[in-house]
Amino acid sequence: MTVKKCLFPVAGLGTRFLPVTKEIAKEMLPLVNRPIISYGVEEALASGCEDIVMITGRTKRSIENYFDRSFELEDILRKRGKLELYYKMIHISEMAEILYIRQREPLGLGHAVLCGETVCKDDYFGVILPDDVFIDDVPVLSQLISVHERLGGSVVALEHVKPKDISRYGIAAGDETEPGIFRLTDMVEKPKIQDAPSEYAIMGRYVLSPKIFPLLHTQQAGAGGEIQLTDAIRELMKTEPVWGVVYKGRRFDCGTQKGWLRANIQLALEDDELRDVVLEIVNGNK
Ligand code: G1P
Repeated sequence: MTVKKCLFPVAGLGTRFLPVTKEIAKEMLPLVNRPIISYGVEEALASGCEDIVMITGRTKRSIENYFDRSFELEDILRKRGKLELYYKMIHISEMAEILYIRQREPLGLGHAVLCGETVCKDDYFGVILPDDVFIDDVPVLSQLISVHERLGGSVVALEHVKPKDISRYGIAAGDETEPGIFRLTDMVEKPKIQDAPSEYAIMGRYVLSPKIFPLLHTQQAGAGGEIQLTDAIRELMKTEPVWGVVYKGRRFDCGTQKGWLRANIQLALEDDELRDVVLEIVNGNK
């Protein structure tokens, strides 16, 4: 019943961050002292996943390189006696078993998940959208996995959002069977406010049934002309339970420049070594 594989769709072009993302994968942008992607990978591992499956694109080699050994760098660090950094670099390349699959065309999140079919088709699997960074005591993916282990079926993370933000997300509705847990009956990708079934938005964490794959195969393009995961999950609800869990924790939206900047400032303020720099700047005494 447990979830051992976690899929990361990371093929997106990162147009919101251009020109920076012309050459750098947006997942490699720093969030304080490590790339955004490493927060998601650490969350998957802390949630009990062992195999990480990245759905990448041609501009994302830096992600593969980041999680690989760098013998030249390690050699230099060792020779210079910088052993702490040396072991840190080795740790990054050993922290997970990572598989890379290319998404050859940018056809949407549903299509990206479908690219993971060969690896994930036998069991329930996790999906992490690394733009949504969660900082919490209990990793959000593990909150979803607990519900899957207890109730079966697929699970998505939900957050109550303001009406003005509804059209940015997949919106889900259902019956609250226990506090913060909904048996979902409807799901719409980026609806207009008047068409939204609720004010609960799907945030970037999922536990999905392998039965999602046949549904994705036949899924027509939806919102934005893309093959939407949300549309396939709505189909899945007809045959299997899909739960929505109002997650506990803090979310940072690192998919927009403002959100990314906010996350960096907030986390720097919480870092003993960086707090003073931020405070000096905001208080104007440089
Ligand atoms: C994707 C999903 C959407 C979800 C969102 C969470 O949208 O399609 O349902 O609410 O992630 O961040 P995207 O942000 O890729 O447009």
